[in-house]
Amino acid sequence: MDWIRLGNSGADLTGVGGRLQDVGPEQLAQHCRRDDAWLAIRGNVYNVTPYMNFHPGGVEELERGIGTDATKLFSQVHAWVNYDSILKKCLVGRYRPRSGEGSSPTSPEVGLGVFLATKEEKEKHNVGRNTPTQPPPRKLRYDWYEQEERGSIVLYCQTQEPSVKVTLGEDNKDLLLLVCEKGEIQSLHILLENDIVWPPRLIQIPNSSKVELQLKKSKPGHWKTFGHLLQENNVPSTCLHYSKMKVNNIFSVNYNTKILALSYLDQTFSTTPVGHHVRVRNVFDGEEIERCYTPICKSMVEPQSEEDQTLIYLMVKKYETGLLSSWLASRSIDDILEVSSPEGSFQTSCLINRKELYLFAAGTGFTPMVGVINFARKIVIGKCTKISLTFFNRTEKDILWKDELERLVQKDSRFTVSHVLSEADETWTGLRGRVDGELLRSQLPSRNPQDEPKAFVFVCGPTAFTQLTGGLLTVMGYTNKDYHCFQG
Ligand SMILES: Cc1cc2nc3c(=O)[nH]c(=O)nc-3n(C[C@H](O)[C@H](O)[C@H](O)COP(=O)(O)OP(=O)(O)OC[C@H]3O[C@@H](n4cnc5c(N)ncnc54)[C@H](O)[C@@H]3O)c2cc1C
Ligand code: HEM
Repeated sequence: MDWIRLGNSGADLTGVGGRLQDVGPEQLAQHCRRDDAWLAIRGNVYNVTPYMNFHPGGVEELERGIGTDATKLFSQVHAWVNYDSILKKCLVGRYRPRSGEGSSPTSPEVGLGVFLATKEEKEKHNVGRNTPTQPPPRKLRYDWYEQEERGSIVLYCQTQEPSVKVTLGEDNKDLLLLVCEKGEIQSLHILLENDIVWPPRLIQIPNSSKVELQLKKSKPGHWKTFGHLLQENNVPSTCLHYSKMKVNNIFSVNYNTKILALSYLDQTFSTTPVGHHVRVRNVFDGEEIERCYTPICKSMVEPQSEEDQTLIYLMVKKYETGLLSSWLASRSIDDILEVSSPEGSFQTSCLINRKELYLFAAGTGFTPMVGVINFARKIVIGKCTKISLTFFNRTEKDILWKDELERLVQKDSRFTVSHVLSEADETWTGLRGRVDGELLRSQLPSRNPQDEPKAFVFVCGPTAFTQLTGGLLTVMGYTNKDYHCFQG
């Protein structure tokens, strides 16, 4: 905010009176001191002297690029950062390298330009006229960057944590990206210049709606073009799409719960937005039955390092009389399931400025909380300072991931867990009973309508639990903007 204020103050942040000029390498090299710092990024020269103390990565880091064409360094560290918007008041002019210099990746046209192979494609996409931040509306916006061994496609989505599906053809060059958000599927079909290694890695850029797909080239070297854009589409998506998935692995959680790791049958993987679920369907005695399951990370303690993005993990509790859950629990490795695309109404944007999260889960109502906890820990929006889970179960042996939760309490001081058992034995020293007003008040402060809201509440469990808890929250002053109940 201070940086934006400085930009709006009318001060000359260019240091040269604001008249745009062409800058060559020699002139650029002269501005290489902390108190007189210029750098070039993708063909533009900026005076970053006033930005030095605002740079989130610190002065020393920014200093590594000054006096030079810092395009490559900048892209290596954070290709997704909107430098052109942050530094627009610091623009000195165009960078004019000596002839013969300025080839990829430092050329001003790197980015979408070399992604599109033909002149017609460039004209169609306004390359050279549009920056990645000013594309035509409602098309999937994207850009790309390359280094010797890797390339990256950055997707500019409309929401944080969209659902993304990535498919690579058998030749390892034919890449299809589907982004599903706000009731639309936007697709991008690209024939890459050369083959890449499966699987690429998808990274959700924290605090933004950008997603970066990192591609590892099969053979290092610069590509003349990134490839051909075969097709881009934007279609409404109102129905679920089912895919066949294979049971890749099975892990036991406790006496009645398993984790099934599922993978697509071809080179495909997809992401599920926080708090969204998939459906699994099967035909029993001629009747099709489907049930919802919320994909989880394999670990809450180290979600990133453990993550294999080609797998979807479902934590399934077996009900002895339950049709689909007992069928799922009896699956073996290599069995095939039919699994839907993700669905759900939760949007992480409702967490903006909420610093404290209170999670009330009963039984397998725990599964959406796993995604919420991971998201809150790595964020982000509102910089969360407290994550409190109250977990309701019948007996101690029913508590899912009890040890994982303990390890997380040790690892992250913001996270606390309280277990509440309805049928505890005499050795249990923790809370007992079922959800009621008194218990809720012991876990959660009341909401004063005069105060700025800082808490957000999540609820998930059997319908009766969810309805009762929702009602009690209303009594405590929480409105439907202050809590979310996960339901099918
Ligand atoms: C949005 C959403 C996400 C879900 N995520 C998960 C998940 O990640 N993991 C998971 O294991 N389940 C999850 N569930 C529950 C799941 O969809 C099924 O309801 C559950 O597996 C039982 O299905 P079934 O066909 O085996 O039982 P059914 O044949 O439908 O029911 C058989 C018996 O089980 C009891 N029963 C069914 N469901 C429940 C329940 N949820 N709680 C208590 N008793 C029940 C019934 O009362 C009945 O006695 C989720 C449900 C929803 C709506
Ligand atoms: C070219 C030399 C630069 C280097 C070596 C560099 C390095 C870094 C590093 C190490 C971080 C910290 C990343 C982290 O905390 O995980 C960072 C963050 C950041 N830098 Fe730079 N930086 C450079 C240039 C710039 C420029 C020119 C801008 C502005 C336009 C910029 C804007 C940012 C922003 C906004 C962040 C926070 C990003 C985030 O949280 O996602 N950087 N930088």
